[in-house]
Amino acid sequence: MQKTNRSILLVSRPKGMPKQEDFKLITNPIPEVKEGEILIRTIYLSVDPYMRGRMRGIKTYVEPFELNEVLIGGVVGEVIESRNSRFRVGEIIEGRLDWADFSISNGVNVRKVNPNLASISTALGIIGMPGLTAYFGLLDIGKPKEGETVVISGAAGAVGTVVGQIAKINGCRVVGITGSEEKKRYLEDKLEFDVAINYNAENVLEDLRTACPDGVDIYFDNVGGEISDAVMTLINFQSRIVLCGQISLYNKEKSEKGPRIQGSLIHHSAVMKGFIVGDYADRHHEGLEQLGEWVKEGKLKYHESIVNGLENAPRAFMGLFKGENIGKQLVKL
Ligand SMILES: NC(=O)c1ccc[n+]([C@@H]2O[C@H](COP(=O)([O-])OP(=O)(O)OC[C@H]3O[C@@H](n4cnc5c(N)ncnc54)[C@H](OP(=O)(O)O)[C@@H]3O)[C@@H](O)[C@H]2O)c1
Repeated sequence: MQKTNRSILLVSRPKGMPKQEDFKLITNPIPEVKEGEILIRTIYLSVDPYMRGRMRGIKTYVEPFELNEVLIGGVVGEVIESRNSRFRVGEIIEGRLDWADFSISNGVNVRKVNPNLASISTALGIIGMPGLTAYFGLLDIGKPKEGETVVISGAAGAVGTVVGQIAKINGCRVVGITGSEEKKRYLEDKLEFDVAINYNAENVLEDLRTACPDGVDIYFDNVGGEISDAVMTLINFQSRIVLCGQISLYNKEKSEKGPRIQGSLIHHSAVMKGFIVGDYADRHHEGLEQLGEWVKEGKLKYHESIVNGLENAPRAFMGLFKGENIGKQLVKL
């Protein structure tokens, strides 16, 4: 068995777009397993946009990453040594663990993954945190009704692809906004979105007007910025705006001033609500069960973009901000 453990540290706080030099790969001995602990071999590592916020060094709803410490992210791995009676060697688990070949856990921050349900990688995507984000954000805040128009920004990503498909299950008209022709085709041809708009090729506002002749009832916002400014001009009476993410702003050093939308929210009796998936921690079990069922029944499709090798995890992370992924971006070790 491999004797050493490679891991990735954050060595400087990114200014603007993260760079390779902000990260460092180091090698140490594999940690020793103490009573009550398990040793996990990483199989898949998740790269997620929220990690950019933790790199700023400011406390938000999660603690910031410390400099020169190993990065923590979503991991699917195999238990290879157990001194905890709840876990057996060979079991597959998912949890927030080290960006490393191996991690130690006391079993509290991990959940078991059923390898017979779907590919184990889905525990980081459609049957994991991004899937839950889509599920609760759309159903609990968006409250979709049959025949309504749902617009999704960041539509071809891990969260957006699930939002659109759940909206279709609920009988909605679905319009996705994304950054390339390939992604536009994926959304329209494979996921059966009613319309997809490539914001890099088209005039978003004009195309939105054409795609949403009856206005927008639900806006699921993953990106913020000018794309959201355009969508907000088309909201309907009693529309719901679900604030999930603002990725277009994560690498900005200064905040930008946008249109003042409070008046429009009043005139339209609209609701705008931010949330984090952790708000629904006590219902995650319900969400995972439903998402798993829909995947098994073929009602939810998924795509994964996979980069190989721990050493390439920073590159995969940076790729999120250049739109390199379709669906969930993973790193395979
Ligand atoms: N609230 C929560 O609990 C929660 C949980 C998970 C994720 N999120 C948020 O949800 C959003 C999506 O997350 P995800 O994991 O599904 O990521 P993702 O969509 O799989 O990946 C990021 C995508 O964002 C798009 N993007 C990057 N920079 C952009 C820009 N400047 N303008 C417009 N689009 C840009 C790119 O797609 P294009 O090629 O289409 O531009 C890229 O592929 C993020 O904002 C994330 O922070 C929130």
